This record gives sequence, C-alpha cells and structure tokens, in this order.
Amino acid sequence: MKSVITVPLPQRAYNIVIAPGGLDYLGAWMTGEAEAAAPLKLGKKVLLVSNPVVFGHYGQRAIASLEQAGFEVAHHLVPDGEQHKTLETLQTIYDAALAHRLERSSCLVALGGGVIGDMTGFAAATWMRGLAVVQVPTTLLAMVDASIGGKTGVNHPQGKNLIGAFHQPSLVLIDPQVLRSLPVREFRAAMAEVIKYGVIWDQGLFEALEACDRLDAIEHLSDDLLQMILTHSAQAKADVVAQDEREGNLRAILNYGHTVGHAVESLTGYTQVNHGEAVAIGMVAAGEVAVRLGWWSQDACDRQQRLIEKAGLPTRLPAELDLDAVLESLTADKKVKAGKVRFALPQGLGKAEITDQVTREVLRPVLEALR
Ligand code: NAD
Ligand code: GLY
Repeated sequence: MKSVITVPLPQRAYNIVIAPGGLDYLGAWMTGEAEAAAPLKLGKKVLLVSNPVVFGHYGQRAIASLEQAGFEVAHHLVPDGEQHKTLETLQTIYDAALAHRLERSSCLVALGGGVIGDMTGFAAATWMRGLAVVQVPTTLLAMVDASIGGKTGVNHPQGKNLIGAFHQPSLVLIDPQVLRSLPVREFRAAMAEVIKYGVIWDQGLFEALEACDRLDAIEHLSDDLLQMILTHSAQAKADVVAQDEREGNLRAILNYGHTVGHAVESLTGYTQVNHGEAVAIGMVAAGEVAVRLGWWSQDACDRQQRLIEKAGLPTRLPAELDLDAVLESLTADKKVKAGKVRFALPQGLGKAEITDQVTREVLRPVLEALR
C-alpha cells in the first residue's frame, strides 16, 4: 500500500511518496532504486538535519537506509521547539554543511516536523545558492502541509516566518508509521488542516471523515484510513501549489481558518491554544461568516463543526479573550492586503474563495457568538 503524488511544477516537479515503512527505503527512493522511484541524480554527500526527539526515534534508521543506498551521511541536531526556529540555529546548520564539505550536488535531508522542515529547507535554499532538500516529515502537520509546497524559513523576533524563501523539495517521503510516536495533541491539531482540505478542496475527503467513528487519536484510525487521509490531503496541497506556487491568489485559500486562528494563537501567547486548535476555532468563525454573507449553508457549517468536535478540537473562543483585541490583531495579520483583511471563505463543500468583504460589523457578532 503506497501512494505517489506528483507536484507538477515546471522545471521542479517532485514526488510525494506515502509508504508505510518507507523510512527504511529513504535512500532507495532518492537513488531511484525503490520501485517506481525517480532518481534524484544527487552527489554522494548528505547532511541529515533533525532534533534529539525525532532523531532518537528514527535517526539511525534513516541513516542506515541512506548509507545502504551509497550516500556518505553526516547528521546535525538542532534543539527541539519553535523557539529555536531562528537565524542562530540556521547558522549551526550552515556550520555543519561547511564542516561536512557539502558540494553543489549534495543534499540536505529534513527529518522532523514543520520546524525542522522549514529551517532545513531554508538552509538548502541559501547554502551555496541552493542545494537539493528531501523532506521526511514526521508530524501529521508536516506530512499534510509544511513539507509540501516549498515555503521555507525561520522566525524573526518580531514575527513568525518573516525570513524565508520558496524552495521546493526534490522529494517528500512520508512514512505514516512514524506518527505512532507523535503526542496526541500534535496529532489532533493537525487534523484541523485535514478537515480544512475537505472544506476548501476535497468534498470526498470531507465525507470520508464524516463517515469515521473517531478522529481524535491515531489509534482509532486504521492503516487504510490513515493512508487515505494522507493521500487526499497531500493531493489537495499539491493541486493548489501546482496552480499557484507563489501565492498570487489561489494558494491563499490554504489560509482558511488561519485569519482568526492567528489572532487567537498570538493573543493566547502561542501556548494555551496551539496552532491547529486556533485554526479549528478560526474555521468555525470563517464558516459562520460565510453563512452570514450567504456563501455557505447552515447545514454545511454545522457539519464542519461536528467534524471539528469529532477530532477533539475546540470550537469556541477562550472566554477571557478580548474581542476588540482579536479584531485589532486581524488588521495586523500578514494576510492584510491594502489595509483590507483577506478571508478565505467556503463556498459549498470542496471549494473556497478569497474575499476582502468581511467587515468588523460582520465579524463582531460572529466572534461574540463563539464565546
Ligand atoms: P514541530 O516541528 O515543532 O513538531 C512538534 C513536536 O513533535 C516537536 O516537539 C517534535 O520534536 C515532535 N515530533 C515530531 N515528530 C515526531 C514523532 N514522529 N514522534 C514523536 N515526536 C515527534 O511542529 P509541527 O506542527 O510539525 O510544525 C510547526 C511548524 O511548521 C511551524 O514552525 C510552522 O510555521 C511550520 N509550517 C510550515 C508550513 C509550510 O508551508 N512551510 C506550513 C505549516 C506550518
Ligand atoms: N501552509 C500554507 C501554504 O503552504 O501556503
């Protein structure tokens, strides 16, 4: 049971491989020796970047697989956590690239969640003006979102992901089995992004999620169901990226739920409510806005809410949140264009559009009702 999805970008098309146990064939997927693999035509040297948590679980298997395929592997560990997604940590990756004498034909391998993927991708984008990077995502969020689409970068003290580049990977290798060690809160948070794809792009995925008994922990998902969720989500992201790599317009629909979500995340200090939980609340808010604007039916909105609840995610704003602060924060968000807040809103199931017509007058009662 494996799926291979191609992101068909001109000059830099690449495959997303979803293969249970695939970690042991990472090297073979890179050299083209795995069944149906396309060779990446890389040099011998590989720098694998990870953190101590992920490396402790999967580092040696990844290295063994790379060495078996003939690569000369060095590894570099960075401290775990979003607070280390910085230029200082990036510098240590450059130092490791230098110490290992990486060449233009060398490759970086990112083994970890979105933090490792974004930083390693940015190191690859910039070291020697651009090396290949292979993404081996180990969180559900990185599998369905961060590892696909080429957004890379680090945080600036004044804001998340302010320093970055588009740099598409040469391969994304997803081994669903590694999710078995992921903390349950991380798993649930990423289900918000999966539900998002169902709402904005893939009605079939939405309905398949509705048919599941439970979505709140990986042990309730069969291998087939997990494979289906990963495949549909990766396909949705690949489709959108292929049509709008640089977020000229369409790609912004991936921000569905993120407008209010970012405000909730930042106003609760990025700890009380995590990213996925904030996106879940943001999707409920955006859904209600869409109903008020006549874009969406109440029935679709209620179905979305039931899915979010089934994933064990919140649907209400934290009680202590100041609504004026939320409204203020929306206009300071990255998704503001020419002073207008841009919202991704659903239109039916499996379709979304971007609009700047969401005024404070529409938003305030929606937010009040969500407390
Ligand atoms: P993360 O990378 O911090 O990983 C979450 C935690 O899980 C970490 O403690 C990590 O060590 C641990 N972990 C990872 N895999 C594990 C496994 N298999 N078993 C046990 N523990 C494991 O968080 P994340 O949610 O994966 O990523 C968040 C980051 O992704 C943010 O920095 C965000 O900006 C970025 N992001 C980027 C994009 C993009 O398009 N580039 C999209 C979405 C998010
Ligand atoms: N995570 C949103 C994007 O990749 O555009």
